[in-house]
Amino acid sequence: MFQTNSREGSHGTMPHDESIADGQSATATDTAKLLVETAAFSTSPELHDSPFMRACRREPVPFTPVWLMRQAGRYMREYREVRARTSFLELCKTPELAAEVTVYAAERLGVDAAIIFADILLILEPMGLDLEFAKGEGPVIHNPVRSGRDVDRLREVEDISSLGYVNDAIRLTRRALRPGLPLIGFAGAPFTLASYIIEGGSSKNYIQTKTLMYTDAGAWHQMMSLISRALGRYLNAQIAAGAQAVQLFDSWVGALSPDDYREYVLPHTRAVIQSVTPGTPVIHFGTGTAALLELMREAGGDVIGLDWRVRLDDAWQRLGDDVAVMGNFDSVALFSNVEVVRAQARRILEYAGNRPGHIFNLGHGILPETPVENVVALVDAVHELSQRRNNG
Ligand code: CP3
Repeated sequence: MFQTNSREGSHGTMPHDESIADGQSATATDTAKLLVETAAFSTSPELHDSPFMRACRREPVPFTPVWLMRQAGRYMREYREVRARTSFLELCKTPELAAEVTVYAAERLGVDAAIIFADILLILEPMGLDLEFAKGEGPVIHNPVRSGRDVDRLREVEDISSLGYVNDAIRLTRRALRPGLPLIGFAGAPFTLASYIIEGGSSKNYIQTKTLMYTDAGAWHQMMSLISRALGRYLNAQIAAGAQAVQLFDSWVGALSPDDYREYVLPHTRAVIQSVTPGTPVIHFGTGTAALLELMREAGGDVIGLDWRVRLDDAWQRLGDDVAVMGNFDSVALFSNVEVVRAQARRILEYAGNRPGHIFNLGHGILPETPVENVVALVDAVHELSQRRNNG
């Protein structure tokens, strides 16, 4: 394990009583696992009243909570050191390591929430898809879905036990995190997952995806429903394991027109959000969504994630003040310098104008070459510039 260089005191030591990968006797391990798995995590008052959770509920906060999408990743030397020894999928599937990188990033940055280290594409495996993270190429699905017949081959994810490693990572992380620091679980939203399943990897124009959608609406909706059912089970298992909130990443949904979003996506995303355990905040995030915000709001979510291409005050006005917002700092501004970072952070905070229900974040994930010191400066700037004296 690398050294935790906590900015909040040292809470980062991994517990050693958990024996997912070490050599305890099978019986003791099984019993211990059964016990933790049957007892759903119950959120403490400390977590419930944390600034992040309060902001999700649009309650007043002493300062604007901040966390950063992809806060654990290649821009951090300590992450690269772990990755030098372990492939990305192995890292996701080793709960001790996933927990370690999750906790380390949250403490190093001093953010107000952790996000479990995992990937939106992990759920493709139990559906029967052959997933690989090829070096330098990003994700590859070797048996993509291209037709109605391929859709019939997809497996219903009845139980998510094959993704138990994510829940184990959540349990370990929850124990290792500072008691008042919320942990976010997540999944890809149906459209973004469908785009990987159909394209077989990342895409620019989503030609295969839209072609299946337009030419075989029956197969499309069948696949989106299957994905949505799997997502509901997966997110609720993450919540039972100890996630305080969940985020749906619809990273590529901005490729759709509003009419297509309404017809082909909205009912499915709404079904997923409605199936989430009541009382758990849902963050609904997408990029390139300036034309889709009202529809995303209609699909649901307690918090709508904004990219950097919209002005936060305009977007919030369109969404209405009965929903919280997250965002919307341009990730690329982190490559500049501390003065620029502070000025841009200040502007976003001004647009939020002290209204309860703003969670500060980037408009999309941190990019691999980002200087860590600018990331830390952003977190500090948000905390400092948003201090409120008589509030919360
Ligand atoms: O935010 C966090 O710190 C939690 C971890 C996290 C990862 N992926 C780790 C990861 C989260 C929340 C994700 C979500 C994810 N994965 C999304 C949605 C977020 C977004 O950026 O829109 C998407 C589209 C994916 C799919 C994915 N995973 C791609 C396209 C790639 C390759 C691109 C790249 O950056 O290399 C990944 C790999 C991936 N997921 C990495 C990390 C840290 C890099 C893998 C490595 O270490 O080499």
